[in-house]
Amino acid sequence: MSEALETDYLVIGSGIAGLNFALQAARHGRVVVLTKKHPADTNTNWAQGGVAAVLAPDDTLEQHIADTLTVGDGLCEREVVERCVQEGPAQVERLLALGVKLARTADNQLDLTREGGHSRRRVVHYEDVTGREIQRALLAAVAAEPNITMLDEHIAVDLLSMAKYGGEPACFGAYVLCRRTGVVKTLVAKATVLASGGTGKVYIYTSNPDVATGDGIAMAYRMGAAVADLEFVQFHPTVLYHPHAGSFLISEALRGEGGILRLATGETFMENYHPLKSLGPRDVVARAIDNELKKSGADSVFLDMTHLEPAFVRKRFPNIHERCLALGLDITQKPIPVVPAAHYMCGGVKTDEHGQTTVRNLYAIGEVAYTGLHGACRLASNSLLEGMVYSTRAAEHVRTVESLRPAKVAPWQAGSAADSNDAIVVALNWEEIRRFMWSYVGIVRSDKRIERARRRIEVLRDEIQEYYWDFKITSDLVELRNLALVANLIIESARRRKESRGLHYTVDYPEKAATARHTELQLTHGPRG
Ligand code: SIN
Repeated sequence: MSEALETDYLVIGSGIAGLNFALQAARHGRVVVLTKKHPADTNTNWAQGGVAAVLAPDDTLEQHIADTLTVGDGLCEREVVERCVQEGPAQVERLLALGVKLARTADNQLDLTREGGHSRRRVVHYEDVTGREIQRALLAAVAAEPNITMLDEHIAVDLLSMAKYGGEPACFGAYVLCRRTGVVKTLVAKATVLASGGTGKVYIYTSNPDVATGDGIAMAYRMGAAVADLEFVQFHPTVLYHPHAGSFLISEALRGEGGILRLATGETFMENYHPLKSLGPRDVVARAIDNELKKSGADSVFLDMTHLEPAFVRKRFPNIHERCLALGLDITQKPIPVVPAAHYMCGGVKTDEHGQTTVRNLYAIGEVAYTGLHGACRLASNSLLEGMVYSTRAAEHVRTVESLRPAKVAPWQAGSAADSNDAIVVALNWEEIRRFMWSYVGIVRSDKRIERARRRIEVLRDEIQEYYWDFKITSDLVELRNLALVANLIIESARRRKESRGLHYTVDYPEKAATARHTELQLTHGPRG
């Protein structure tokens, strides 16, 4: 059974970019927002750090621009960086106007924290749960907006393309699976906006929630959109190492407030890697920890907060303090065991200054997008800012979209597919991909490891394709197919970069090439979809 629905704007994803877009686009059209699980199951909701913006008297736009360019290691687009940094203070104002609570100092100024790679205090935050607070305020605003319909427990399966009807590959919506009923609906829209977040689940260790399976990148690529710089996967240096912790982030803001990285022996080590020591850029810190763990064979390094005033630590990091306490660790008394984990995809679906992809009527905003801001390594807390800036621009630009759709839209074809009872196959494939991606295309890479990963993903993708078309579609299968394609694209991008730059470090080419270039893949030239 298939249902057809129509709207002006279809938004896939309910994080900061998707919801901010929806709120603004709802002024001139009807918006449907899809969310795979609950609307708050987003990377935004898990963000601890904050939003980077120039607000301090001792800070300047030039300094924020320079820090972003330095960390981006030669691959940021300067005008994109300037645009985002310049709009920073206005976007913080907008968040406040939306009712987002932000931490204040005793004299009622916005409290600014510091994170790796920032030369000044410039990150606005709400305790250590900034993303959760932003998500709360945006969802409250969306609930009050009659022009927005939120469809929870709905996952997009594939984008609808005019190419199937003999036209150009313009997008006019998506096939959408309702996870509760198993029904695939046809959702037709003037413009489709990918706001589906990142790809952390491609790796076995990640700070991301379960929903981060790279769906937007996979769907856009299958449709023929260009994707860029997918080799630049950011590994966060400090995720809690504990058998019962799941993937719990220990924010960089702890180091911003004076936390020190130590080995199990208590010795410090970051002075051997970067002049900013524990607060060096993320790629450097993650690699340093990886190296120390390999050298010593230890399970983790430690983040020490015990020299700081306990009352300050409890007040500034209440969420982290409580979560660790529940696991039997008082962070004011004992150092926190930490390891690196996949955290943020710096590449993504290639977009222009309006958030438009290379496919007509398809937009991408937030982590799913490549805008040119992050370059080869993202400066901490620039991403929520980017999500706000580009969702605002896209919401303005979609007004100009001319509807392109066939007179009659073909419903989803389930074919003769039978119910699959073989959930174990999905689980095993998923686990295998995530493990070899961690070992072969992780923090430190080599030609040999990348080639091993390439051979494995080829075999697995064949199996998954077969399974996908043989059996009735489920949300796990949709995610697995996307995850496998994104892994393939990361491998292919990493294979093409014959240098070490930013987040891509390979022992075979430890130096930076003389010329900085982007890696771009498109279905006609890249691996099969
Ligand atoms: C953190 O709190 O360490 C994460 C901030 C970010 O990834 O921008």
